[in-house]
Amino acid sequence: MSKNRNILITGGAGFIGSHVVRLFVNKYPQYNIINLDALTYAGNLENLKDIENKPNYTFVKADICDYDTIVKIFNDYKIDSVIHLAAESHVDRSIKDPFIFAKTNVLGTLTLLQAAKEYWQAPYKDNLFYHISTDEVYGTLEFDGTFFTEDRKYEPHSPYSASKASSDHFVRAFHDTYGLPIIITNCSNNYGPYQFPEKLIPLFINNIRHNKPLPVYGKGENVRDWLFVEDHARAIDIIFHKGKVADTYNIGGFNEWKNIDLIKVIIKTVDRLLGKPEGTSLSLITYVTDRAGHDLRYAIDSTKLKNELGWEPSLQFEEGIEKTVKWYLENQQWLDNVTSGDYQVYYERMYK
Ligand code: NAD
Ligand code: DAU
Repeated sequence: MSKNRNILITGGAGFIGSHVVRLFVNKYPQYNIINLDALTYAGNLENLKDIENKPNYTFVKADICDYDTIVKIFNDYKIDSVIHLAAESHVDRSIKDPFIFAKTNVLGTLTLLQAAKEYWQAPYKDNLFYHISTDEVYGTLEFDGTFFTEDRKYEPHSPYSASKASSDHFVRAFHDTYGLPIIITNCSNNYGPYQFPEKLIPLFINNIRHNKPLPVYGKGENVRDWLFVEDHARAIDIIFHKGKVADTYNIGGFNEWKNIDLIKVIIKTVDRLLGKPEGTSLSLITYVTDRAGHDLRYAIDSTKLKNELGWEPSLQFEEGIEKTVKWYLENQQWLDNVTSGDYQVYYERMYK
């Protein structure tokens, strides 16, 4: 894959997508990067201010469920590959409103697959549909030292993970039925700059800043495997260029944290950086009713990715958390903008 490429990245104005777009735009000036995003509450063009004027970058506001528009975009930009991140991504929202998850994550993915199949046409030379999935499709683990490997059966529990699992099945079906060249990756929990402050880490940083309660679900004993978002973007770059078509790769940090222990690290770090005595904000911890169907433990085995393609996480967790907390505290305006919703009105006017 050394030639020029026209790559459609969906969901590029979101958290992970913006890091992927930035990496590809900066690292590959010979590629045209087309960022397609509907700019839902989670999409924010502020995330890409630093690269928005680069000659190899284009933003298109569109909905992945809109087939005619998607086909037009494939034609207009001569798209040869897709990195598909656009999704509804928050588990709590999926419990409240599962329909939008089925629509965006399942029908939206199917719409993109069908457009790619029709535009590219078999035998699909130099095309790739790279689908970004999650470890949540595997279900949950006990505290028994086991890990999710690529051959684990799917057992989603939340409407979010059920919708992601369904989209993964469609992606595989398009390979098995039509020969569409696909790759799927399943990644663990990401953290870092530009994450919407409804997810645990930015929500808690923001709440500590405002001296608001920190809602810990259940007893805070659930375990997640945390990966710095730039390491995920780096894995996507390697897999996009060197991954084996039709294969699946797990991406994870080998970095498991019990929620309550992670929360204490966040509190300690935020307090220190805000100049408060460390531990002041421990009093904000508030145990609340558990999330329905709350998966107990996620832990990814990414040995395959290390052995086959040489990827490993580059950042130690302590360093990643320090960097992340600093970023949110230095970008309080960003936090205020995304929580106020004003930025959407502003950018909608700009890109009309
Ligand atoms: P996010 O919610 O921050 O961003 C999602 C983006 O998709 C937003 O920019 C939003 O505007 C866009 N979008 C939503 N609906 C759309 C539609 N109908 N058409 C076009 N664009 C639309 O999500 P994220 O956390 O960056 O996750 C990105 C992808 O990675 C998702 O597919 C998610 O399932 C997956 N993933 C996330 C994590 C994580 O820890 N955040 C881990 C593993 C996998
Ligand atoms: O594992 C990958 C997944 O990680 C991604 O596919 C999802 O898109 C992403 O949102 C994330 O899902 P989680 O549900 O694990 O992330 P969240 O930040 O919502 O929650 C992390 C843990 O913290 C989880 O055990 C629930 C708990 N939690 C979360 C929130 C928002 C709380 O205790 N209190 C909270 O207020």
